[in-house]
Amino acid sequence: MRIGVPAETRANETRVAATPETVKKYVAQGHTVTIQAGAGAGASFPDEAYVAAGAQVADAAATFGAELVLKVQSPSVSELAFMKRGAVLVGMLDPFNAENAQKLAEAGLTAFALEAAPRTTRAQSLDVLSSQANIAGYKAVLVAANHYPRFTPMLMTAAGTVKAARVLILGAGVAGLQAIATAKRMGAVIEASDVRPAVKEQIESLGAKFVDVPYETDEEREAAQGVGGYARPMPPSWLARQSALVHERAKQADIVISTALIPGRAAPTLISMETVQAMKPGSVLVDLAAGRGAEYEGRRGGNCPLTEADQIVVKHGVTIVGHTNLAAMVPADASSLYARNLLDFLKLIVTKEGALNIDLADDIVAATLLARDGAVTRKT
Ligand code: NAI
Repeated sequence: MRIGVPAETRANETRVAATPETVKKYVAQGHTVTIQAGAGAGASFPDEAYVAAGAQVADAAATFGAELVLKVQSPSVSELAFMKRGAVLVGMLDPFNAENAQKLAEAGLTAFALEAAPRTTRAQSLDVLSSQANIAGYKAVLVAANHYPRFTPMLMTAAGTVKAARVLILGAGVAGLQAIATAKRMGAVIEASDVRPAVKEQIESLGAKFVDVPYETDEEREAAQGVGGYARPMPPSWLARQSALVHERAKQADIVISTALIPGRAAPTLISMETVQAMKPGSVLVDLAAGRGAEYEGRRGGNCPLTEADQIVVKHGVTIVGHTNLAAMVPADASSLYARNLLDFLKLIVTKEGALNIDLADDIVAATLLARDGAVTRKT
Protein backbone atom coordinates (compact mmCIF):
# COMPACT_ATOMS: atom_id res chain seq x y z
CA MET A 1 0.00 0.00 0.00
CA ARG A 2 1.00 3.60 -0.41
CA ILE A 3 1.31 5.10 3.06
CA GLY A 4 1.49 8.89 3.45
CA VAL A 5 2.77 10.69 6.54
CA PRO A 6 2.01 14.43 6.39
CA ALA A 7 3.54 17.04 8.69
CA GLU A 8 1.28 18.12 11.55
CA THR A 9 0.12 21.71 11.22
CA ARG A 10 -1.90 22.46 14.39
CA ALA A 11 -0.39 24.98 16.79
CA ASN A 12 2.04 23.47 19.32
CA GLU A 13 1.92 20.07 17.62
CA THR A 14 5.46 18.74 17.41
CA ARG A 15 4.72 15.04 17.02
CA VAL A 16 4.79 12.92 13.89
CA ALA A 17 2.84 9.75 13.09
CA ALA A 18 5.77 7.65 11.85
CA THR A 19 9.38 7.45 12.95
CA PRO A 20 12.34 6.05 11.02
CA GLU A 21 11.89 2.88 13.13
CA THR A 22 8.28 2.31 12.04
CA VAL A 23 8.94 3.41 8.44
CA LYS A 24 11.59 0.70 8.20
CA LYS A 25 9.02 -1.87 9.33
CA TYR A 26 6.37 -0.66 6.87
CA VAL A 27 8.89 -0.82 4.03
CA ALA A 28 9.95 -4.34 5.11
CA GLN A 29 6.26 -5.32 4.94
CA GLY A 30 6.24 -4.24 1.30
CA HIS A 31 4.57 -0.82 1.64
CA THR A 32 5.71 2.40 -0.01
CA VAL A 33 6.07 5.25 2.49
CA THR A 34 5.96 8.91 1.54
CA ILE A 35 6.76 11.44 4.26
CA GLN A 36 6.30 15.18 4.02
CA ALA A 37 9.57 17.13 4.08
CA GLY A 38 10.28 18.27 7.63
CA ALA A 39 7.45 16.19 9.15
CA GLY A 40 9.74 14.75 11.83
CA ALA A 41 11.78 17.88 12.50
CA GLY A 42 9.80 18.91 15.60
CA ALA A 43 10.46 15.47 17.09
CA SER A 44 14.16 15.43 16.12
CA PHE A 45 13.77 12.96 13.25
CA PRO A 46 15.44 14.53 10.19
CA ASP A 47 14.35 13.75 6.62
CA GLU A 48 17.62 11.89 6.02
CA ALA A 49 16.76 9.38 8.74
CA TYR A 50 13.45 8.63 7.00
CA VAL A 51 15.20 8.29 3.64
CA ALA A 52 17.71 5.89 5.21
CA ALA A 53 14.73 3.88 6.50
CA GLY A 54 13.35 3.62 2.97
CA ALA A 55 10.85 6.49 2.75
CA GLN A 56 10.41 9.00 -0.03
CA VAL A 57 10.27 12.66 0.96
CA ALA A 58 7.51 14.66 -0.74
CA ASP A 59 5.14 17.61 -0.32
CA ALA A 60 1.84 17.78 1.59
CA ALA A 61 -0.33 17.00 -1.45
CA ALA A 62 1.59 13.79 -2.20
CA THR A 63 1.46 12.51 1.38
CA PHE A 64 -2.24 13.34 1.83
CA GLY A 65 -2.90 11.75 -1.57
CA ALA A 66 -1.80 8.26 -0.40
CA GLU A 67 -4.15 5.29 0.01
CA LEU A 68 -3.44 5.17 3.73
CA VAL A 69 -2.67 8.38 5.61
CA LEU A 70 -1.15 8.34 9.11
CA LYS A 71 -1.72 11.44 11.22
CA VAL A 72 -1.36 12.58 14.81
CA GLN A 73 -4.30 15.01 14.78
CA SER A 74 -7.26 15.23 12.43
CA PRO A 75 -6.55 17.04 9.12
CA SER A 76 -7.84 20.57 8.54
CA VAL A 77 -10.47 21.26 5.87
CA SER A 78 -7.81 22.41 3.39
CA GLU A 79 -5.77 19.28 4.07
CA LEU A 80 -8.83 17.08 3.59
CA ALA A 81 -9.11 18.51 0.09
CA PHE A 82 -5.85 16.74 -0.80
CA MET A 83 -7.24 13.35 0.22
CA LYS A 84 -8.76 10.83 -2.17
CA ARG A 85 -12.28 9.52 -1.62
CA GLY A 86 -11.99 5.96 -0.30
CA ALA A 87 -8.60 6.61 1.31
CA VAL A 88 -7.96 5.36 4.84
CA LEU A 89 -7.09 7.85 7.58
CA VAL A 90 -5.76 6.73 10.96
CA GLY A 91 -5.04 9.12 13.83
CA MET A 92 -6.29 10.76 17.00
CA LEU A 93 -9.37 12.09 15.26
CA ASP A 94 -11.32 13.33 18.29
CA PRO A 95 -14.12 10.71 18.26
CA PHE A 96 -16.55 12.74 20.40
CA ASN A 97 -16.41 15.68 17.98
CA ALA A 98 -19.48 15.07 15.80
CA GLU A 99 -18.77 17.98 13.47
CA ASN A 100 -15.29 16.72 12.65
CA ALA A 101 -16.53 13.15 12.15
CA GLN A 102 -19.10 14.49 9.69
CA LYS A 103 -16.36 16.31 7.72
CA LEU A 104 -14.31 13.14 7.48
CA ALA A 105 -17.39 11.21 6.30
CA GLU A 106 -18.21 13.86 3.70
CA ALA A 107 -14.65 13.60 2.38
CA GLY A 108 -15.44 9.93 1.65
CA LEU A 109 -12.75 8.63 3.99
CA THR A 110 -12.53 5.42 5.92
CA ALA A 111 -11.42 7.00 9.19
CA PHE A 112 -10.19 5.36 12.39
CA ALA A 113 -10.04 7.36 15.65
CA LEU A 114 -7.58 5.51 17.85
CA GLU A 115 -8.71 7.22 21.07
CA ALA A 116 -11.89 5.12 20.80
CA ALA A 117 -10.12 1.76 21.16
CA PRO A 118 -11.43 -0.33 24.08
CA ARG A 119 -9.24 -0.45 27.21
CA THR A 120 -8.62 -4.19 26.93
CA THR A 121 -5.45 -6.25 27.25
CA ARG A 122 -5.38 -6.93 23.49
CA ALA A 123 -5.67 -3.21 22.74
CA GLN A 124 -2.86 -2.18 25.10
CA SER A 125 -0.12 -1.98 22.47
CA LEU A 126 -2.17 0.43 20.35
CA ASP A 127 -3.64 2.43 23.24
CA VAL A 128 -2.81 6.00 22.25
CA LEU A 129 -4.61 7.52 25.26
CA SER A 130 -2.30 5.59 27.56
CA SER A 131 0.91 6.18 25.62
CA GLN A 132 0.31 9.93 25.46
CA ALA A 133 -1.29 10.42 28.91
CA ASN A 134 1.70 8.69 30.47
CA ILE A 135 3.96 11.32 28.91
CA ALA A 136 1.60 14.16 29.84
CA GLY A 137 1.58 13.05 33.49
CA TYR A 138 5.38 13.01 33.58
CA LYS A 139 5.75 16.37 31.86
CA ALA A 140 3.09 17.98 34.08
CA VAL A 141 5.31 17.43 37.12
CA LEU A 142 8.38 18.86 35.38
CA VAL A 143 6.42 21.91 34.22
CA ALA A 144 5.05 22.40 37.74
CA ALA A 145 8.53 22.15 39.24
CA ASN A 146 9.75 24.74 36.74
CA HIS A 147 7.15 27.26 37.87
CA TYR A 148 7.44 26.44 41.56
CA PRO A 149 9.71 28.91 43.35
CA ARG A 150 11.18 26.29 45.68
CA PHE A 151 12.90 22.90 45.64
CA THR A 152 10.79 19.77 45.38
CA PRO A 153 12.94 17.41 47.55
CA MET A 154 13.77 17.89 51.19
CA LEU A 155 17.33 19.17 51.48
CA MET A 156 19.59 19.59 54.47
CA THR A 157 22.21 22.19 53.69
CA ALA A 158 24.71 24.18 55.76
CA ALA A 159 22.43 27.18 55.27
CA GLY A 160 19.44 25.37 56.67
CA THR A 161 16.84 22.74 55.85
CA VAL A 162 14.44 22.97 52.93
CA LYS A 163 11.10 21.18 53.19
CA ALA A 164 9.90 18.75 50.55
CA ALA A 165 7.14 20.04 48.26
CA ARG A 166 3.65 18.73 48.93
CA VAL A 167 2.00 17.57 45.73
CA LEU A 168 -1.74 16.87 45.36
CA ILE A 169 -2.80 14.80 42.36
CA LEU A 170 -6.47 14.76 41.40
CA GLY A 171 -7.45 11.91 39.11
CA ALA A 172 -5.24 8.83 39.23
CA GLY A 173 -5.67 7.34 35.77
CA VAL A 174 -2.72 6.85 33.45
CA ALA A 175 -1.55 10.48 33.63
CA GLY A 176 -2.16 10.84 37.36
CA LEU A 177 -0.30 7.64 38.25
CA GLN A 178 2.70 8.69 36.15
CA ALA A 179 2.57 12.12 37.82
CA ILE A 180 2.71 10.40 41.23
CA ALA A 181 5.69 8.28 40.14
CA THR A 182 7.53 11.30 38.73
CA ALA A 183 6.86 13.54 41.74
CA LYS A 184 8.05 10.71 43.97
CA ARG A 185 11.34 10.48 42.06
CA MET A 186 11.72 14.21 42.62
CA GLY A 187 11.41 13.80 46.37
CA ALA A 188 7.96 15.32 46.87
CA VAL A 189 5.39 14.25 49.47
CA ILE A 190 2.28 13.18 47.55
CA GLU A 191 -1.46 12.79 48.08
CA ALA A 192 -3.86 11.65 45.38
CA SER A 193 -7.59 11.28 44.87
CA ASP A 194 -9.86 9.54 42.37
CA VAL A 195 -13.49 8.51 42.19
CA ARG A 196 -12.71 4.93 41.29
CA PRO A 197 -12.04 2.82 44.41
CA ALA A 198 -9.82 0.44 42.42
CA VAL A 199 -6.99 2.98 42.26
CA LYS A 200 -6.44 3.24 46.03
CA GLU A 201 -3.94 0.39 46.02
CA GLN A 202 -2.16 1.71 42.93
CA ILE A 203 -1.79 5.14 44.54
CA GLU A 204 -0.43 3.65 47.74
CA SER A 205 1.94 1.28 45.95
CA LEU A 206 3.54 4.31 44.27
CA GLY A 207 4.21 5.83 47.68
CA ALA A 208 1.40 8.41 47.79
CA LYS A 209 -1.36 8.85 50.35
CA PHE A 210 -4.93 8.18 49.15
CA VAL A 211 -7.33 11.04 49.81
CA ASP A 212 -10.46 9.09 50.59
CA VAL A 213 -13.96 10.48 50.07
CA PRO A 214 -16.05 7.59 51.47
CA TYR A 215 -19.29 6.68 49.68
CA GLU A 216 -22.45 7.24 51.68
CA THR A 217 -25.16 5.84 49.38
CA ASP A 218 -25.54 2.94 46.95
CA GLU A 219 -25.97 5.48 44.14
CA GLU A 220 -22.53 6.95 44.92
CA ARG A 221 -20.96 3.50 45.23
CA GLU A 222 -22.42 2.40 41.91
CA ALA A 223 -21.43 5.57 40.02
CA ALA A 224 -17.87 5.23 41.31
CA GLN A 225 -17.53 1.82 39.64
CA GLY A 226 -17.64 3.65 36.28
CA VAL A 227 -18.15 2.00 32.90
CA GLY A 228 -15.51 0.15 30.90
CA GLY A 229 -12.84 1.26 33.39
CA TYR A 230 -13.75 4.94 32.94
CA ALA A 231 -15.18 7.31 35.51
CA ARG A 232 -18.83 8.38 35.32
CA PRO A 233 -20.15 11.69 36.63
CA MET A 234 -20.54 11.36 40.40
CA PRO A 235 -23.74 12.38 42.26
CA PRO A 236 -23.69 15.99 43.57
CA SER A 237 -23.65 14.76 47.18
CA TRP A 238 -20.29 13.01 46.70
CA LEU A 239 -18.85 15.85 44.62
CA ALA A 240 -19.72 18.33 47.40
CA ARG A 241 -17.87 16.24 49.99
CA GLN A 242 -14.96 15.75 47.60
CA SER A 243 -14.83 19.49 46.98
CA ALA A 244 -14.62 20.25 50.70
CA LEU A 245 -11.81 17.74 51.13
CA VAL A 246 -9.92 18.92 48.02
CA HIS A 247 -10.21 22.48 49.38
CA GLU A 248 -8.51 21.43 52.63
CA ARG A 249 -5.80 19.38 50.89
CA ALA A 250 -5.11 22.07 48.23
CA LYS A 251 -4.58 24.67 50.99
CA GLN A 252 -1.69 22.56 52.28
CA ALA A 253 -0.28 21.73 48.83
CA ASP A 254 2.54 23.43 46.94
CA ILE A 255 1.77 21.80 43.61
CA VAL A 256 -1.59 20.51 42.37
CA ILE A 257 -1.81 18.38 39.24
CA SER A 258 -5.35 17.71 38.08
CA THR A 259 -6.07 15.06 35.48
CA ALA A 260 -9.76 14.22 36.04
CA LEU A 261 -11.63 13.47 32.81
CA ILE A 262 -14.89 11.77 31.88
CA PRO A 263 -14.92 10.60 28.24
CA GLY A 264 -17.40 12.47 26.05
CA ARG A 265 -18.38 14.96 28.78
CA ALA A 266 -17.06 18.13 30.31
CA ALA A 267 -14.30 17.45 32.85
CA PRO A 268 -15.51 17.81 36.45
CA THR A 269 -14.79 21.01 38.40
CA LEU A 270 -12.58 19.95 41.30
CA ILE A 271 -10.73 23.14 42.22
CA SER A 272 -13.10 26.02 42.76
CA MET A 273 -12.20 29.69 42.68
CA GLU A 274 -12.44 29.74 46.48
CA THR A 275 -9.93 26.90 46.64
CA VAL A 276 -7.47 28.81 44.42
CA GLN A 277 -7.92 31.86 46.68
CA ALA A 278 -7.10 29.70 49.70
CA MET A 279 -3.96 28.15 48.14
CA LYS A 280 -0.48 29.28 49.18
CA PRO A 281 1.18 32.11 47.25
CA GLY A 282 3.71 30.65 44.83
CA SER A 283 1.87 27.37 44.54
CA VAL A 284 1.30 25.89 41.09
CA LEU A 285 -1.67 24.17 39.48
CA VAL A 286 -1.12 22.20 36.27
CA ASP A 287 -4.56 21.43 34.85
CA LEU A 288 -4.49 18.60 32.31
CA ALA A 289 -8.20 19.08 31.67
CA ALA A 290 -7.53 22.61 30.32
CA GLY A 291 -10.07 23.55 27.64
CA ARG A 292 -12.22 20.51 28.42
CA GLY A 293 -14.00 21.68 31.57
CA ALA A 294 -17.22 23.56 32.17
CA GLU A 295 -17.78 26.89 30.49
CA TYR A 296 -16.65 29.92 32.51
CA GLU A 297 -16.63 33.53 31.32
CA GLY A 298 -17.24 32.51 27.72
CA ARG A 299 -14.51 29.88 27.47
CA ARG A 300 -13.96 26.38 28.70
CA GLY A 301 -11.84 25.99 31.81
CA GLY A 302 -10.43 22.70 33.07
CA ASN A 303 -10.75 20.95 36.43
CA CYS A 304 -10.46 24.55 37.65
CA PRO A 305 -12.66 27.28 36.13
CA LEU A 306 -9.77 29.77 36.27
CA THR A 307 -7.63 27.64 33.95
CA GLU A 308 -7.15 29.15 30.50
CA ALA A 309 -6.38 26.72 27.69
CA ASP A 310 -2.84 27.07 26.33
CA GLN A 311 -2.06 29.90 28.75
CA ILE A 312 -0.10 30.26 31.95
CA VAL A 313 -1.90 32.69 34.25
CA VAL A 314 -1.33 33.83 37.82
CA LYS A 315 -4.53 34.08 39.87
CA HIS A 316 -4.54 34.97 43.58
CA GLY A 317 -0.78 34.25 43.64
CA VAL A 318 -1.22 30.76 42.16
CA THR A 319 0.36 29.93 38.79
CA ILE A 320 -2.21 28.04 36.73
CA VAL A 321 -0.78 26.16 33.76
CA GLY A 322 -3.23 25.28 30.98
CA HIS A 323 -1.10 23.48 28.40
CA THR A 324 -3.47 21.33 26.32
CA ASN A 325 -0.84 19.20 24.64
CA LEU A 326 1.77 18.24 27.22
CA ALA A 327 2.70 15.06 25.34
CA ALA A 328 3.89 17.23 22.43
CA MET A 329 6.37 18.82 24.85
CA VAL A 330 8.23 15.48 24.89
CA PRO A 331 8.07 15.16 21.11
CA ALA A 332 10.60 12.44 20.32
CA ASP A 333 9.35 9.85 22.79
CA ALA A 334 5.70 10.85 22.30
CA SER A 335 6.14 10.27 18.55
CA SER A 336 8.04 7.01 19.01
CA LEU A 337 5.34 5.53 21.23
CA TYR A 338 2.50 6.88 19.11
CA ALA A 339 4.11 5.59 15.91
CA ARG A 340 4.38 2.13 17.49
CA ASN A 341 0.70 2.32 18.48
CA LEU A 342 -0.12 2.97 14.80
CA LEU A 343 2.12 0.14 13.60
CA ASP A 344 0.24 -2.24 15.88
CA PHE A 345 -3.17 -0.91 14.85
CA LEU A 346 -2.38 -1.37 11.15
CA LYS A 347 -1.81 -5.08 11.77
CA LEU A 348 -5.57 -5.26 12.41
CA ILE A 349 -6.65 -3.64 9.13
CA VAL A 350 -3.91 -4.53 6.65
CA THR A 351 -3.19 -8.16 5.73
CA LYS A 352 0.34 -9.62 5.50
CA GLU A 353 -0.06 -9.38 1.72
CA GLY A 354 -0.61 -5.62 2.08
CA ALA A 355 -4.33 -5.51 1.31
CA LEU A 356 -6.89 -3.57 3.30
CA ASN A 357 -9.16 -5.82 5.38
CA ILE A 358 -11.67 -4.09 7.63
CA ASP A 359 -13.12 -6.80 9.82
CA LEU A 360 -15.96 -5.36 11.89
CA ALA A 361 -16.10 -8.56 13.92
CA ASP A 362 -12.88 -7.32 15.54
CA ASP A 363 -13.92 -5.23 18.55
CA ILE A 364 -10.98 -2.83 18.22
CA VAL A 365 -11.63 -2.21 14.51
CA ALA A 366 -15.36 -1.75 15.11
CA ALA A 367 -14.85 0.62 18.07
CA THR A 368 -12.36 2.87 16.29
CA LEU A 369 -14.08 3.10 12.90
CA LEU A 370 -15.40 6.68 12.82
CA ALA A 371 -16.50 7.12 9.20
CA ARG A 372 -16.91 4.98 6.10
CA ASP A 373 -18.67 5.20 2.72
CA GLY A 374 -19.72 8.79 3.31
CA ALA A 375 -21.33 8.18 6.69
CA VAL A 376 -20.32 8.57 10.34
CA THR A 377 -20.21 5.02 11.69
CA ARG A 378 -19.61 5.69 15.36
CA LYS A 379 -21.95 7.29 17.86
CA THR A 380 -20.09 10.51 18.66
P1 NAI B 1 -9.20 9.45 32.02
O1 NAI B 1 -8.08 10.17 31.36
O2 NAI B 1 -10.50 9.31 31.33
O3 NAI B 1 -9.49 10.14 33.46
C1 NAI B 1 -8.42 10.40 34.37
C2 NAI B 1 -8.83 10.03 35.77
O4 NAI B 1 -9.75 10.97 36.29
C3 NAI B 1 -9.51 8.67 35.90
O5 NAI B 1 -8.77 7.86 36.77
C4 NAI B 1 -10.89 9.03 36.46
O6 NAI B 1 -11.38 8.03 37.33
C5 NAI B 1 -10.58 10.31 37.20
N1 NAI B 1 -11.75 11.12 37.58
C6 NAI B 1 -12.89 11.38 36.87
N2 NAI B 1 -13.72 12.16 37.60
C7 NAI B 1 -13.09 12.43 38.80
C8 NAI B 1 -13.43 13.16 39.96
N3 NAI B 1 -14.60 13.80 40.09
N4 NAI B 1 -12.52 13.19 40.97
C9 NAI B 1 -11.35 12.54 40.88
N5 NAI B 1 -10.97 11.82 39.80
C10 NAI B 1 -11.84 11.76 38.78
O7 NAI B 1 -8.71 8.01 32.48
P2 NAI B 1 -7.53 7.10 31.88
O8 NAI B 1 -6.26 7.50 32.47
O9 NAI B 1 -7.64 7.11 30.41
O10 NAI B 1 -7.92 5.67 32.44
C11 NAI B 1 -9.24 5.16 32.38
C12 NAI B 1 -9.27 3.73 32.87
O11 NAI B 1 -8.78 2.85 31.91
C13 NAI B 1 -8.48 3.46 34.10
O12 NAI B 1 -9.20 2.54 34.89
C14 NAI B 1 -7.24 2.80 33.62
O13 NAI B 1 -6.62 2.04 34.61
C15 NAI B 1 -7.85 1.97 32.53
N6 NAI B 1 -6.89 1.54 31.55
C16 NAI B 1 -6.93 0.25 31.10
C17 NAI B 1 -6.05 -0.20 30.14
C18 NAI B 1 -6.11 -1.60 29.68
O14 NAI B 1 -6.61 -2.45 30.36
N7 NAI B 1 -5.65 -1.86 28.49
C19 NAI B 1 -5.05 0.70 29.56
C20 NAI B 1 -5.11 2.04 30.10
C21 NAI B 1 -6.01 2.44 31.04
